[in-house]
Amino acid sequence: MIQLTQQFEFSAAHRLHCDTLSDEENKALFGKCNNPSGHGHNYVVEVTLGREIVDAKQVENTNGLIEFEKIVKAQVIDRLDHKHLNEDIEYFSNVNPSVENISVAIWNWLEEPISKLAATDCQLVSVKVFETPKTSALYAGPNASPSV
Ligand code: NI
Repeated sequence: MIQLTQQFEFSAAHRLHCDTLSDEENKALFGKCNNPSGHGHNYVVEVTLGREIVDAKQVENTNGLIEFEKIVKAQVIDRLDHKHLNEDIEYFSNVNPSVENISVAIWNWLEEPISKLAATDCQLVSVKVFETPKTSALYAGPNASPSV
C-alpha cells in the first residue's frame, strides 16, 4: 500500500467540559481549557489516504487529489473554521470537543465520501489533528490497531 497525506488548517474555539462533573472537578480535569467563555486553537489536520499498488505506474496518478481536497474542504474546513465547536457544531452539542473527539468526528465525516471518490480506489487510512504543535490525536478508524 502507498499512503498520501495532505495537511489542512482551521481555526476554532472550544470549551472542554463534562456536564456530569462538578465545576471544581471540571477545572481540575481540564485546567485552562475549562474556561467558561472558551478559547481558541489553530488546528492542523493531516488526512492520510491509502491505495493498494497493482501497477507501479499508478503511483504517479494523482487524479483524485483535487476531488479529495474538495471533500475535506466541504466536510471539515467549511464546517469547523471560525466556529465555536460547542455552540455551533451539532456533533459537539453532547460530545466534548477534545482533540481526540475532533479526530474521530473528522474521520466519520470523511470516510464515506472518500470511499466514493470515483477517480481513485483510495481508502481513508487516518486522521491526525494537532491542537497545538505539541498535542495531537491520531484516529485510524474503529478497526485499526493502535500501531497505525
Ligand atoms: Ni483547548
